[in-house]
Amino acid sequence: MSYRLTVLGTGYLGATHAACMAALGYEVLGLDVDPGKVASLSAGELPIHEPGLEEILRQGLASGRLRFTTSYEEAAEFGDVHFICVGTPQKKGEYAADVSYLDAVVESLAPYLNRECVVVGKSTVPVGTAQRLADKLARLAPAGELVELVWNPEFLREGFAVRDTMRPDRIVLGVVSDKAEKVMREVYEPMLAEGTPVIITDYPTSELVKVAANAFLATKISFINAMAEVCEAAHADVKDLSLALSFDERIGGRFLNPGLGFGGGCLPKDIRAFMARAGELGADQALTFLREVDAINMRRRARMVDLARELAGGSFQGCTVAVLGAAFKPNSDDIRDSPALDVAVKIREQGGDVTVYDPVALGNARKAHPTLGFGASALDAAKGAHVVLLLTEWQEFIDLDPEELGGVVAARKIVDGRNALDAETWRASGWHYRALGRP
Ligand code: UDX
Repeated sequence: MSYRLTVLGTGYLGATHAACMAALGYEVLGLDVDPGKVASLSAGELPIHEPGLEEILRQGLASGRLRFTTSYEEAAEFGDVHFICVGTPQKKGEYAADVSYLDAVVESLAPYLNRECVVVGKSTVPVGTAQRLADKLARLAPAGELVELVWNPEFLREGFAVRDTMRPDRIVLGVVSDKAEKVMREVYEPMLAEGTPVIITDYPTSELVKVAANAFLATKISFINAMAEVCEAAHADVKDLSLALSFDERIGGRFLNPGLGFGGGCLPKDIRAFMARAGELGADQALTFLREVDAINMRRRARMVDLARELAGGSFQGCTVAVLGAAFKPNSDDIRDSPALDVAVKIREQGGDVTVYDPVALGNARKAHPTLGFGASALDAAKGAHVVLLLTEWQEFIDLDPEELGGVVAARKIVDGRNALDAETWRASGWHYRALGRP
């Protein structure tokens, strides 16, 4: 049977999921409480930068299979399978995740659910949330037991959201009945037909898989950045060290790039929420190492500011600093917890005259940090700079010509915060080249 799908919450995850499911041939109704978002998505306009997503959004709209609404009543009537894709941000001043958007979706949808359907949670949540929401659904939905909850965490990466949704590494389903499992296997049939592994498990395990994956990735990054700290003290080269480690298949080379560390809307808040939840469960000792992972990560930002100050001659007073990169990673316009902007702001606070450039995140950065200076291009931002900092490894920065950039700066000094440039090439052009974790 061909199910009709709804996607509740059309942020990063929801917009991607809705457009991809429509591209697979499903009829999809996306819902958001923000009428502005619904209007722009209905017009084929994406509020975010994500390669390939706007194209499939427009194709979905043109095919008539994809629509958007603000009405829960309409969504409940339309859908056989409802995907919940709202965010779970970090609570202000706390480590814990704020799951109030999830509760709001369930409370708004459930009273209209008067026939058999499956509700699928995709958001990243503290373990135990799924069972709580299942109980709430059972209480509030007129169809009672005919409404079933499945937990199906999403692992997509920004910049690769479409690819990761269409060709996931694995599909994890937390289920309580064979019936719901069967529905989900049918919905994901196009992926399963390509051999995508599926793991069927219970609610708490499915919730934990997601946070465990992010905790592992964060740990890998902080591990190599801890090695970078030791390399700095021992005059060793963390880039060579990382390369040598990567040939051990048990370790692998991915997520072992030393540099300014992780940011974004997921890894930092997910490891903090994981620690908070483990504490509530009395298992906080199991995750104390994540506190260290977080601390190592934040120390990289401080070290970057120190290195920049050193190159500036000991103080930022009267110093012009060019910051290349504002997004938390390349191919994204997301500036949430961006290490690059964090460094830029700290240098500004210490008296530096900072000019930032980013290929797509400039608008977001300007809105969030109006006191920083902004350039129209890398060369524009670097004009008259005493120090250049590469903080997000966009390809266009890796491709910069050291001679051309050298022609506009006041001093040929660069700190490669992502270990992305070829040191020899830059040094050969007369640049004083420094990088985190390298002599
Ligand atoms: C992450 C997870 O990868 C994804 O599975 C989950 O669903 C959401 O969180 P994302 O936040 O899009 O995805 O970014 P990711 O590619 O994981 O990068 C996170 C941060 O780590 C970036 O700031 C990146 O610059 C940094 N990073 C990554 C490193 O510093 N070194 C590395 O080797 C890899």
